[in-house]
Amino acid sequence: MALFEARGLHKRFGDQVVLERIDLAFEAGKLSGIMGPNGAGKTTCFNVLTGRYKPDRGTVTLDGEDITGLAPHRIVARGVSRSFQIMNLFDEYSALDNVVIALPEVRARGFSVTHALDGDSAAQDRAAAILERVGLRGRERVNARRLSYGERRALEIGVALATEPRLLFVDEPTAGLGTAATGRLAELIGELKAHTTIVMIEHDMRFLFGLADRISVIHWGQVIAEGTPDELRDNPWVRRSNLGGLA
Ligand SMILES: Nc1ncnc2c1ncn2[C@@H]1O[C@H](COP(=O)(O)OP(=O)(O)OP(=O)(O)O)[C@@H](O)[C@H]1O
Ligand SMILES: [Mg+2]
Repeated sequence: MALFEARGLHKRFGDQVVLERIDLAFEAGKLSGIMGPNGAGKTTCFNVLTGRYKPDRGTVTLDGEDITGLAPHRIVARGVSRSFQIMNLFDEYSALDNVVIALPEVRARGFSVTHALDGDSAAQDRAAAILERVGLRGRERVNARRLSYGERRALEIGVALATEPRLLFVDEPTAGLGTAATGRLAELIGELKAHTTIVMIEHDMRFLFGLADRISVIHWGQVIAEGTPDELRDNPWVRRSNLGGLA
């Protein structure tokens, strides 16, 4: 049994059907990739899987347990975390504080930011260790607003990791990054992969094919192809949605 499964997900907004029928299974310990053209429904699919939207039909299971329609924070509490395509940071807070706020022990105290950030040295140490993991050592005290774009993307992953997820969803982590920052991010995700099950939406095929164990291609709200990177390399749909270029 896969760690996380979606069966027959259907989602519409008004008259527009965005997810026709999505079946996906993510194995524990693997990095699963999702690709597909703009507007295919990839982010919507993440939104349904992580509780932001309820599907009109279909089920989502975690470890065989039905979590369909649970509120996002309840899904996070079960060990599923995500980083967003559109960044989701507290700009006026330091990198360290952004991570501290996301720690489970701090969140359990209620969302009072000033209270959370005052003098909890254990939480600060844990947050600093997470920043080191995502390559932001030395940047702890810098306000999120002042970080470079690549650093902000790394910080977003740090914030997601702070919730200690068993499963991490990342939506287009390389969006807007240059070659050097993309290379650093590939290293980071390669390391995270050893400890965390990851599901990643990505347009950059070289990046995705270098990291993923399996890839699902979504088009017209359905999974139209699925397989290992080797199996998919010559798939015509994959070649058509190839934005990053394959080596
Ligand atoms: N909350 C919403 N209300 C109405 N329509 C929505 C909503 N969210 C998404 N859509 C529509 O669903 C379709 C799929 O969007 P989605 O963001 O899931 O695509 P995507 O595959 O992530 O594309 P991209 O690669 O550009 O990020 C789009 O037509 C979008 O306008
Ligand atoms: Mg998207």
